Amino acid sequence: MKTRNFKIAGSILSADLLNLEKDVQQALDEGVDIIHFDVMDYHYVPNMTFGPVFLQAMRKKFKDAIFDVHLMVSPCSENIVDDYIKAGANWISFHPEACVHTERMLSHIQDSGVKAGLALNPSTPPQMLRYLWDKLDFVLVMTVNPGFGGQKTIPATLTKVYDVKAMAKADGKDILIEVDGGVKASNIREIALSGADVFVVGSAFFGAADKKEALKSLHDALEA
Ligand code: DX5
Ligand code: ZN
Repeated sequence: MKTRNFKIAGSILSADLLNLEKDVQQALDEGVDIIHFDVMDYHYVPNMTFGPVFLQAMRKKFKDAIFDVHLMVSPCSENIVDDYIKAGANWISFHPEACVHTERMLSHIQDSGVKAGLALNPSTPPQMLRYLWDKLDFVLVMTVNPGFGGQKTIPATLTKVYDVKAMAKADGKDILIEVDGGVKASNIREIALSGADVFVVGSAFFGAADKKEALKSLHDALEA
């Protein structure tokens, strides 16, 4: 399947936080395309992670990296989004349940020169995407319920990946689909065949004893 331009986004949620600089440097050196930055607020999801100062420090160190900020926060306000834009985000996704004016927020992100994405939980129907294509740079299909790394992909979510791809095609749009949750070498090919382009990988990369080998197995499975 070499025809599509697949990308791997390493989620630092599973990195060694006391050696984060080393882990991220290694990820970039090995060829991880994007660094996925999971923001959790103990409210939208039952967990807490990183804030904008943390992203700013990472941006200072990794000037050319692509930082993909996944906001699992509620309410998702323009102030919060702006903090991550200022801190150096390249991509920002948020969950529609956490935002009253979804279209306005997507426009705001795009107008700031950042790629805008909508993150859909396993039970969130994708129909709203039809009215938002022009404001969307990517769709983040959650393949687990958000909040924790190391969970198993929920099989029904692959149907959603397929449905989003088909809906976009029917509307003449070529949307980038990112998947997040439980992606590993044993299922990445099946997920790619469902229509995904960008694969968030947390535990299956940062949690692996041999990261080089882990990334190779993901690429091998995609290219098989
Ligand atoms: C879950 C996060 C994911 C998580 C993925 O809420 O959005 O990005 O880090 O981790 P794995 O790949 O271990 O499922
Ligand atoms: Zn995520």
